[in-house]
Amino acid sequence: MLTNKTVLVGVSGGIAAYKAVEVVSRLVRLGAEVHVLMTAAAARLVAPLTFQALSGHPVQIDLLAEQKHGHVDHVYLARRADLLIVAPCTANTLAGLAAGSAGDPVAVAALGVSAPVLVCPAMEEHMWAHPLTQANARRLREIGYHLLDPRDGRLASGLHGQGRLPEPEDIVAAAVQLLAPARRDLTGRRVLVTAGATREPLDPVRFISNRSTGKMGFAVAAAAAARGAEVVLVAGSGNLAAPPGVELVRVETALEMYTAVMTRADWCDIVVGAAAVSDYRPAVYHEHKVKKQDGNLTVEFVRNPDILRELGQKKRPGCLLVGFAAETTDVVDYARRKLQEKNLDLIVANNVSEEDAGFATDTNRVVLIGRTGKPDALPLLSKEAVAAAIWDRVVSLL
Ligand code: PMT
Repeated sequence: MLTNKTVLVGVSGGIAAYKAVEVVSRLVRLGAEVHVLMTAAAARLVAPLTFQALSGHPVQIDLLAEQKHGHVDHVYLARRADLLIVAPCTANTLAGLAAGSAGDPVAVAALGVSAPVLVCPAMEEHMWAHPLTQANARRLREIGYHLLDPRDGRLASGLHGQGRLPEPEDIVAAAVQLLAPARRDLTGRRVLVTAGATREPLDPVRFISNRSTGKMGFAVAAAAAARGAEVVLVAGSGNLAAPPGVELVRVETALEMYTAVMTRADWCDIVVGAAAVSDYRPAVYHEHKVKKQDGNLTVEFVRNPDILRELGQKKRPGCLLVGFAAETTDVVDYARRKLQEKNLDLIVANNVSEEDAGFATDTNRVVLIGRTGKPDALPLLSKEAVAAAIWDRVVSLL
């Protein structure tokens, strides 16, 4: 599957370095030529000989060591690379990459490659959550690096939290996707995607909203742009950066999202509604903060427009409408009903009560339901892989 592909695996000095062994082994089994680069700290955690034996190539640890490829090794490797994976990427290496430092073979490789870079951070939760680390991660995304966010679970300290390196199979799946020959099957298509949560203000300091982060919709938009489409992404609250090649339109409320979508309805030929749009908003917006009073407070809500339903009512021939259905029970039945009621061509049903699917996760487990044929239940996948599957299905409908 990866024959003729050269993958550089940069290993930095976190406890999860042992998982990079499995990553290298899997890549080699898929036929890739793999070269491993290690920071000095990583080389103290896992013996370089292990990587050398698995990859069949010398491991680069010291930039000033004897050059084993008969060239300046880091230039030679960077020029051959089809992909650089940094796994695990410690907070220190992440900061180095974001700053453009060149202090070790991993950082130097990142500066040298023109191939995609897949960064897999792993660290203690407080380090990952730190604003500086988050700013570094954002910076890398902005320059086009692909980040697999750390997973929740038990950390090296024994504490639980978000910081675990994703499992080797997930890292390799993401790598395979990045190495797949670029499909340009959406070239010439105009795609509008909605993502994230809307916020419905009650007064200047309070709003009602939901737990959508925008990850699913951003992945859908990124995949469409990578496949050649012109993409506008209308996104609610959240701080995800615009994917490369995507025009990002930020909105806050459902009414703003409605206007942003409707003014572009004649422009686009495919719409994907991944946003969690609030069905209701407070009937009255108070100009000043609502004061606490004795007794209960009753707030009246009024309906927001249903954006997808309205697009479905005025669908032009040749246009495709894709919706999501966030359900907690009878997922397929409810989703099918929404497909009919909103006049959609495809609906992506996700059970949002599952821990590893739906809101605020990096993974999703969805069922693709078209107007004809059987529902297609996909396994647990990264949101990027779900996005790719959605576009495969949409392309088959075009
Ligand atoms: O953003 P993440 O954290 O990654 O989470 C992803 C997600 C769970 C939000 C996403 O996968 C998802 O399921 N999005 C749809 C959520 C939702 O609002 O579903 P719904 O069943 O209420 O709505 C059905 C469809 O109608 C959706 O496509 C929705 O965008 C659309 N809709 C709903 C209400 C409304 N007023 N206008 C709409 O267009």
